[in-house]
Parts: sequence; C-alpha cells; structure tokens
Amino acid sequence: MALKLAPKVKLNDGNEMPVLGLGTWRSYENDAEFSVKCAIDCGYRHIDTAYVYENEAEVGRAVRAKIQEGVVKREDLFIVTKLASHHHDPNVVEKACRESLSNLQLDYVDLYLIHFPVGMDFDYLDTWKAMEKLVPLGLTKSIGISNFNSEQTKRIVENCTIKPVTNQVECHPGFNQQKLIDFSKKYDIIITAYCPLARPKPEMKLPSFLFDEKTEAIASKHGKTATQVVLRYLIQHGVVPIPKSVNPQRIKQNFDVFDFELNSDEMKVMDSFNTKHRTIPFSQLRTAKHFPFNIEF
Ligand SMILES: NC(=O)c1ccc[n+]([C@@H]2O[C@H](COP(=O)([O-])OP(=O)(O)OC[C@H]3O[C@@H](n4cnc5c(N)ncnc54)[C@H](OP(=O)(O)O)[C@@H]3O)[C@@H](O)[C@H]2O)c1
Repeated sequence: MALKLAPKVKLNDGNEMPVLGLGTWRSYENDAEFSVKCAIDCGYRHIDTAYVYENEAEVGRAVRAKIQEGVVKREDLFIVTKLASHHHDPNVVEKACRESLSNLQLDYVDLYLIHFPVGMDFDYLDTWKAMEKLVPLGLTKSIGISNFNSEQTKRIVENCTIKPVTNQVECHPGFNQQKLIDFSKKYDIIITAYCPLARPKPEMKLPSFLFDEKTEAIASKHGKTATQVVLRYLIQHGVVPIPKSVNPQRIKQNFDVFDFELNSDEMKVMDSFNTKHRTIPFSQLRTAKHFPFNIEF
C-alpha cells in the first residue's frame, strides 16, 4: 500500500512545505539519525534541525541513507536548518550556511531560518539582507525567520526583497499564538509551531492541556490520543507543527493525524487552554537588544 504523506502548504515564494515535520532538538548520539530514518519510513518528509543542535551531520546521514535505499528522492524532502545567533554578521552568513550544508552533506536546504532575532551586535535586518543572497546562490530554496515578534516581522517585510516564508515560534494549545498567526496571515507568512506538545512531563501531568479530561474526551471520541488531538488542532489552525520524538511508536503516532477532523466545538475547547505562559521564554536574553518577547506578540 502506498505510504500516506502529509499534505503540503504553498509558501509565499511558490515552494511547498509539508504541514507536519519532525523536530530534532536534543536528539543526539545517534538518536537524531535513528529518528530521522524512522520518520522518513513513516512518511515524514519535513525535517527540522539547526546548527546549534549539533546534529546536522546525523540528520544528513539519515537523509542520505534513505535516498540511497531508494525510499525517497532528495526533491521529496523538505530539510530545514537555522543560522546561529553568533553568525549574524552579514559577512559570515553565507559561510555559516555552507558549513551547515557541509555538516548535512547536502547541496541545498529547502529552508534556512534566522534562528533568533538577537545576534551579538548585529541588526537582524542586515542579517536578513545577507540571507536573501543565499537563494540565487542555490544554497537554500526558501528563507525564513524564527522567534521574531510582529514588529520585527513587519520591519523585515517592509524592507526586504524576499519575504520570509515562515516564522517558526513556540505554539501549542497552552500558548496558541492566535494574534501572531492572524498578523502573519496578512503577509502570507506561515507559522511553524515548535514545542507543539509543550514538552510533556507525564509524571507531573503537564502540560495541562494534554492531560485534561476534555482533551481526553475528544481523543476517545475520535479513537485518537490526546497528542494527536493537539497536533490536529494546530494543523487546523493553519500552523505547521514539528513534534520531536526519538521513539518509533511516538514518531508514528504523531504522524497519524490526517484521517480525522476536529469540529468547531472541539476547536473551541482546545482554544480554551490558551495562557500567556511560554515553555521556552529565553529569559537569559531578556535584556538583549532585539529581544522579541517583551511585547505581547
Ligand atoms: N526555533 C527554535 O528556537 C526552536 C525552539 C525549540 C524547538 N524547536 C524545534 O521544534 C521541535 C519540537 O520542539 P521540542 O522538541 O522543544 O518540544 P515538543 O516537540 O513539544 O516535545 C518533545 C518531547 O515530547 C515527547 N513526545 C513526543 N511525542 C510524544 C507523544 N506522542 N506522547 C508523549 N510524549 C511525546 C518527546 O519525547 P521522546 O523523544 O522520548 O518521544 C520529547 O521529550 C524541536 O525538536 C526543534 O526541532 C525550535
């Protein structure tokens, strides 16, 4: 039977991104390679890594192995990596991208993101102008941002030649980013949802939205798990979740969300879990120039 793949969303530059991806932060020591191989076998085609995750080489090994096995072609995959904050110097951006490609052993990535707007003494707008040069060089198909607030996004859009295709930010029912999603839609920028499960701690029954009986009731009605309800909720909100797992059952389970739909009442229940609480507040950078989380969204 043909493998079921995730639908794709059209980006503002004409490229397409699968609406669900695999996260790889904190997947080390062969876990990243193992999880990416497992994910590709399950049907994932969108893989998220970053220079600072120190696992680009592992991710690349898995990708090349699956291409060699004939499971996928390079053009079937959507590989994302990110420019580290200590590489914001516009004169360093191309070198940093080439270093990531060398780690990955790939000729190009599908999406290259500025990982965080704070970058030493550099203005992210100058960094963005250097990012734009990577596209005609063929080093990346698309470019985007991560952890940018609405004002920073607007400043980029109003001063760019190439618009960001996505803003990758924390997003889950407990921090659902509705305002940033609505704002970004006006510019045709898709929100990618990192931390889509808010990094569950089952022993503490956290995050509460995952363990709430209302979520459980929705899940049992659809014959799904609470996690699957959460991922489905995000996709129906038009965002692209990238749950991380290194466990084969959970990798498979997280992808199995394309055969059911939440109705509007169920979406409202999931909306009701929204708080102002971030799982990853990046507090250590709070006083830095261009820190993004000092305004509402
Ligand atoms: N741009 C940024 O600044 C930024 C920041 C954070 C994250 N990210 C990206 O977003 C990805 C996802 O975020 P995240 O890793 O922080 O958090 P997450 O995906 O919300 O949660 C990952 C945790 O959930 C567990 N898990 C996964 N599936 C599960 C399931 N079905 N049931 C129960 N537990 C499950 C995983 O454990 P197991 O591995 O044991 O399954 C892992 O501990 C990252 O890996 C990274 O690629 C980007």
